[in-house]
Amino acid sequence: MSEEDVHKGLAGVVADYTAISKVNPESNSLLYRGYPVQELAAGRSFEEVAWLLWTGELPTAAEQAGFAAFERGNRALDPRVRAAIDLLPLDCHPMDVGRTAVSVLGANDPLAEDSSAGAELTKAKSLFAQFPAVVAYDQRRRRSLDVVEPRADLDYSQNFLWMTFGEEAAPEVVDAFRVSMVLYAEHSFNASTFTARVVTSTLSDLHSAVTAAIGALKGPLHGGANEAVMHTFDEIGIRADESRGEAAARAKAWMEDALAQRKKVMGFGHRVYKHGDSRVPTMKAALDKMIGHFDRPEMLGLYDGLEQAMDEAKAIKPNLDYPAGPTYHLMGFDTEMFTPIFIAARITGWTAHIMEQRAANSLIRPLSAYNGVDERHVDQL
Ligand code: COA
Repeated sequence: MSEEDVHKGLAGVVADYTAISKVNPESNSLLYRGYPVQELAAGRSFEEVAWLLWTGELPTAAEQAGFAAFERGNRALDPRVRAAIDLLPLDCHPMDVGRTAVSVLGANDPLAEDSSAGAELTKAKSLFAQFPAVVAYDQRRRRSLDVVEPRADLDYSQNFLWMTFGEEAAPEVVDAFRVSMVLYAEHSFNASTFTARVVTSTLSDLHSAVTAAIGALKGPLHGGANEAVMHTFDEIGIRADESRGEAAARAKAWMEDALAQRKKVMGFGHRVYKHGDSRVPTMKAALDKMIGHFDRPEMLGLYDGLEQAMDEAKAIKPNLDYPAGPTYHLMGFDTEMFTPIFIAARITGWTAHIMEQRAANSLIRPLSAYNGVDERHVDQL
């Protein structure tokens, strides 16, 4: 086997077909089932986008109403999940909580071992409805606050924020949150989605595939980057009384120092997009609205300073996690909750891929090139 046969990181390898989303790095575009993601983010609810990803079409009015009734009826935190979360230490990572919660939900789902198309869609819709309560409960227990019950008069994004903070969020905040969910929903064969497809390809169940995907998403080279961005902001120091220009100057100096030390700065770069991430302009617009809403110009200074210094030094562009991190911070989420929010969004894409993989399955099992010691033999006793 020659070196050309080995594709480290599977870079450049096309592993299968998908009809769910199309990433085009040349035009910096991302299509969900043919629709540009920016158009969906401009006015479609996250519930509609989830339906689109699962079924291939935006819902009709009747489908939308039916799904809303199902989703709103399945939001309450399952007491068995609550009991399992309560066993986990308060200082464990919230991604461990999310992973455990999906595992418990799977073990208790009567459809767990039913992999028919109808059962898979029902499980996907259930997980979509159930997961926000996990994030909200975990955020609140870490702040020693009581659980807030869901409200059926609120849509998905409004209710997510309601259950987390116990008060109705301003419409601008709800909208920025909705936009982030739409943008995070799906992105072809990224590491966690591919993980979900690998697990599905063994004919394992949907919850096992999602649990494994959460493990992949936790890493800072993937979903964990959104919280890592906030750690960078914290390291530079967020000073609410500082001007935009002062904050930008400190951020630039920090970045120049980090790059001089050859550090990888989270929130920049992408395996597929080399000239900018298609989702960033839309998410940056949502961040700008949050900065205006909360009157925090110094956050924009930090954002611009890091981006400019990276661009000047290496021409590496921000990815979606870069504007998403500070957006969630301004909304009031603790930093470690950012990646669990990403789970709530990506459950849609993962489950769409699980269904697609199952419908035309082939066991995913690549080869490896052995580079260990040559054959040898144990001494005969
Ligand atoms: N900070 C500093 N340098 C970076 C960088 C970053 N965030 N991302 C890439 N680079 C540099 C690498 O050091 C490398 O430079 P070199 O050729 O001098 O060694 C070059 O750019 C190519 O990077 P590489 O890691 O090989 O690209 P990749 O396609 O394998 O990696 C990522 C893509 C996403 C893993 C990488 O950009 C990264 O680690 N980013 C930070 C994590 C992150 O934000 N992840 C979320 C992705 S949506």
